[in-house]
Amino acid sequence: MQIFIDSANIEEVRRAHEWGVISGVTTNPSLIAKEGRDFIATIKEMISIVGNLPLSAEVVTMDANEMVEQGKRLASIGEGIVVKIPMNEAGLIATNQLAKAGIKTNVTLIFSSTQALLAARAGATYVSPFIGRLDDINQVGMNLIEETSSIFRTHAIETQIISASIRHTAHIIEAALVGAHIATTPFKVIQQMMKHPLTDAGIEKFMADWEESKDNLGSI
Ligand code: E4P
Repeated sequence: MQIFIDSANIEEVRRAHEWGVISGVTTNPSLIAKEGRDFIATIKEMISIVGNLPLSAEVVTMDANEMVEQGKRLASIGEGIVVKIPMNEAGLIATNQLAKAGIKTNVTLIFSSTQALLAARAGATYVSPFIGRLDDINQVGMNLIEETSSIFRTHAIETQIISASIRHTAHIIEAALVGAHIATTPFKVIQQMMKHPLTDAGIEKFMADWEESKDNLGSI
């Protein structure tokens, strides 16, 4: 399973990219608004860091024709741009038209496997089922990833499943186990993934032992 970073923060994208662990970026209007900077300038700055890795940039209209226009303008910014489109009737129309124009799409705000199936059939490159927001309303979000993954596998559907709305590291492990292709992950959760108290204790002990005896050990 690949890791995308779910962020519009330049520093977070830069750091995670430097670690060599991310295979793409997703943003949404809320993440862009949180940064309070020009949308297109933010997208371009992220492209300058991640190059042609897939970078989802979301349309901000509820009209299908405008979605297609915005999608084409976004796609012209860079080769890696994936047009993120909300799951509704207009979104399906726009997804289908953009697919016919050879533009990649990520259908977002997926909360059922029937939505995922429709988005895939409309031509979506990616679908983004939201786990955390389902957990928030007392449903098991991961069931949606498992169900969608099973349907796509059974019917040889090539649309990639992005586990979205990830809240903690257990979501990552479960998403990988039930067959998500990608987990789009907040920076904080990627940081948590690399941490283990036994690793920290082990490093501390190795360094202390080395310091204590280093006069006899030569150099590297
Ligand atoms: C994914 O594409 C979305 O941007 C994101 O994962 C939403 O997460 P949230 O539910 O934490 O806002």
